[in-house]
Amino acid sequence: MKVGILGCGAIANIITTSIVPEDNGIDIDYFFDKDIERAENLATLAGGVAVLDFDEMVDNVDLVLESASPDSVREFAPKVLEKGCDMIVMSIGAFMDMDFYQRIEKIAEDNNAKVHLPSGAIVGLDGIKAVAKFGLREVSLVTRKSPKSLGKDIDREEVLFEGKASEAVKEFPLNINVAATISIACQRDIDVKIIVDPNVDRNVHEITAKGDFGEFKTRTMNFPCSANPKTSMLAALSAIKLLKSFNETISVGA
Ligand SMILES: NC(=O)c1ccc[n+]([C@@H]2O[C@H](COP(=O)([O-])OP(=O)(O)OC[C@H]3O[C@@H](n4cnc5c(N)ncnc54)[C@H](O)[C@@H]3O)[C@@H](O)[C@H]2O)c1
Repeated sequence: MKVGILGCGAIANIITTSIVPEDNGIDIDYFFDKDIERAENLATLAGGVAVLDFDEMVDNVDLVLESASPDSVREFAPKVLEKGCDMIVMSIGAFMDMDFYQRIEKIAEDNNAKVHLPSGAIVGLDGIKAVAKFGLREVSLVTRKSPKSLGKDIDREEVLFEGKASEAVKEFPLNINVAATISIACQRDIDVKIIVDPNVDRNVHEITAKGDFGEFKTRTMNFPCSANPKTSMLAALSAIKLLKSFNETISVGA
C-alpha cells in the first residue's frame, strides 16, 4: 500500500519513523506540508519525496494520511476522495460539521473510496460502537490537561468548558478530537467537560457510558508528545495500528 502524508508534524513523525524501517507492506513515500521544510525533513528521514503540489501526491498513492489540521481536511479531503483514494483522518473535529460529514460521505461513496477515523487518544470506542444502537442512554467525556497542553497560563484547576461536543470543537478545535470521535461513533452530541489542571502532566480522558447493556467507564492517561504537548502519543500509535490492520487476515477488537 502506497501512503502519502498530509501534515508533517508530531503525529506524522511518530508514524513515519515507526512504519518505514519495518517490512510491513506499507510504503510512506510522499510528504506534503504547508511548511515545505517540515515535509522535506520527514521525506529525508523516510527516503521519500516532499511535494509542493498536493495533486502530485494524490496521483501516486492509495491512501492519504491526514495529520495536519481541521482546515486541511476541509480543503483536501474532497480532492483526495474524488480521485478514489482512501484517507485516514486524524483531525476528526472537522466532521462535527454535519453538512461536511455528509458531503464527504457522498463523495467517498460515489468514488468507491473509504475514510478511516482512528480511535486516537482514547480507549473504549469499541464498546461505544457496540452499544450505540442498543439502549445507550448517556455518554460523557471529561478531559483533563495541563495548562501547557491547553495553551493556558493558569496556576489552579479550572473548568474551561462544559457543554456539548459540537460547541467544544468550535472553542478547542485542535484539542478535542476525542469528543468528536466519540460523538461520531455513537451518532450523538455527547456531553463534554474540559478541565485545565496544573497538577497533571498527562492528557487524561474519562469516558462514561450507561444504558441497557449496563455501564462502563474508561480512563486514559496519555503522555503528551514531546514535539507537541497538545497531542497524545496514543493518537499516533492508534493510526499505526490502523495502517497495519489493512494487511491483517484476522482482526480482533474491531
Ligand atoms: N484523533 C485524535 O485523537 C487526535 C489526537 C491528537 C491530535 N489530533 C489532530 O491531528 C492533527 C495533527 O496533530 P500533530 O500533533 O501532528 O500537529 P502538529 O502541529 O505537530 O503538526 C501539524 C503539521 O501540519 C501542517 N499543517 C497544518 N495545516 C495544514 C494545511 N492546511 N496544509 C498543509 N499542512 C498543514 C503544519 O505545518 C504542521 O507541520 C491536529 O489537527 C490534531 O488536532 C488528533
